Amino acid sequence: MNILITGGSGGLGRAIIELAAAEHTVYFTHNKRDCAWAENRSNIKAIKTDFTVLSDVERLIAAMNEMDLDVLINNAYIGKPLGTHFHKTAAAEFMDSFAHNIMPTITITQKAIAIFMAKRFGKIINVLSAYVAGPPTGFSRYACDKAYLAELTLVWAKEYVRYNITANAIAPEYMDTGFSNIDERFLEQAAERHPLKRILTPQETAEAVMFFVAATQQISGITIPVGHPQ
Ligand SMILES: NC(=O)c1ccc[n+]([C@@H]2O[C@H](COP(=O)([O-])OP(=O)(O)OC[C@H]3O[C@@H](n4cnc5c(N)ncnc54)[C@H](OP(=O)(O)O)[C@@H]3O)[C@@H](O)[C@H]2O)c1
Repeated sequence: MNILITGGSGGLGRAIIELAAAEHTVYFTHNKRDCAWAENRSNIKAIKTDFTVLSDVERLIAAMNEMDLDVLINNAYIGKPLGTHFHKTAAAEFMDSFAHNIMPTITITQKAIAIFMAKRFGKIINVLSAYVAGPPTGFSRYACDKAYLAELTLVWAKEYVRYNITANAIAPEYMDTGFSNIDERFLEQAAERHPLKRILTPQETAEAVMFFVAATQQISGITIPVGHPQ
């Protein structure tokens, strides 16, 4: 299959690429990070895309015409997850985060759905967060962005089932990828809270994503919690 994953330069995205590339062709976007590790790998192709720059997103959407896509994995997150208390968060911060995270995801997914509808096959996999179910203090903007994506997962699953297009999601707990701007104490607490007394790894979460890549088209509209038994 041909897979496009946004934000594949490191962390979870790269862990997914390493698993997916064993069997599939993988296109991925990156922004600031150098992706020399992807060079000279014939079935992995990096596309520099800054989601805060409209022309970059438009260029990615044009490039999708050549990918014959089967799977879209919406993984990128622009900005840091931890902010401050809701009442201290500038209204513009919510607006900017929506513009940089949700709007590119919407336009990229619209393009993917057009490709999937024509071939009567497609899979959308969204990376959410455990914080949708229980946002800790300071994560309101991040949790709300992810909650919006959770709702889109349900919309896409419902509207495109008759085109054999599925939409599913994963909601991982904390992973030590350098993404979260949190302190050591939070890290210790996250490990302590976990029944296995250790933090979830990106590789373990990537396996949950690969479950959806391989899954029957009869599974759609579900979210797998990863690293936090409910
Ligand atoms: N780490 C966690 O604890 C955790 C828990 C639950 C869910 N998640 C979710 O997992 C996903 C991946 O996060 P991660 O932990 O693997 O962190 P990460 O390695 O920092 O991944 C974030 C990705 O987004 C890309 N990105 C950042 N700014 C961008 C921009 N302006 N334009 C385009 N792309 C941009 C980054 O690209 P560059 O690095 O090249 O700039 C990177 O590839 C995110 O959706 C996150 O919300 C993470």
